[in-house]
Amino acid sequence: MSSHPSEARRSFLTRLVLAGAGLIGAGVAGLAGAVVTPRTKEAARRWRPAASMFDLPPKGPFVATLTERHADGWHETRKETVVFIDKLGEDYQALSATCTHLGCRVAWDAVGDHYKCPCHGGIFNRAGDVVSGPPPTGLHKIPVRLNPETADIEVEI
Ligand code: FES
Repeated sequence: MSSHPSEARRSFLTRLVLAGAGLIGAGVAGLAGAVVTPRTKEAARRWRPAASMFDLPPKGPFVATLTERHADGWHETRKETVVFIDKLGEDYQALSATCTHLGCRVAWDAVGDHYKCPCHGGIFNRAGDVVSGPPPTGLHKIPVRLNPETADIEVEI
C-alpha cells in the first residue's frame, strides 16, 4: 500500500518543522545558559615578584603595588593590590593593605611603629594584629617566599 503524494509531503513538512523547532529550542537554551550562568571563573592565583630583598628598608615595611590586567573579550580591567612586605626576624611577611573593617587602605606609621587606618582609626601592630579600633580581625596575611635565584620576594595573589 503506497501513501498518497500529499500525505508524504505533509509528513516531510512535519519532520522539517519539528527539526527546525528543535534547532531553535537548542539555540534558545544555549543563550539562556550563557545569560543565567554566573561567571565563576576567577583569576588564578600565582606567585608574583613584589620586591627585591635589597629593597626592604631597615625599619618598617616596603610598600609594593601590584597591578594585574584582566582582558575579557573587548573589556579590560586593571586591579591594584597593595601589599606590605616586611622581614620579621628571619621570616618574610606580606600583609594586605586593606583594612578588615570597611576596606580602607591602611598606611604604615613609622613614628607609632604600627599600621593605621585613616577611616576609623584602626591600629594594627607590625605583625598585622589588631591593637585598637573597630577592625574585627588582623590584616590579611598573604603567602610570601624568597626566590633564591632572583633575590625577589614573591607573593601569591
Ligand atoms: S575601615 Fe579601617 S577602621 Fe574602619
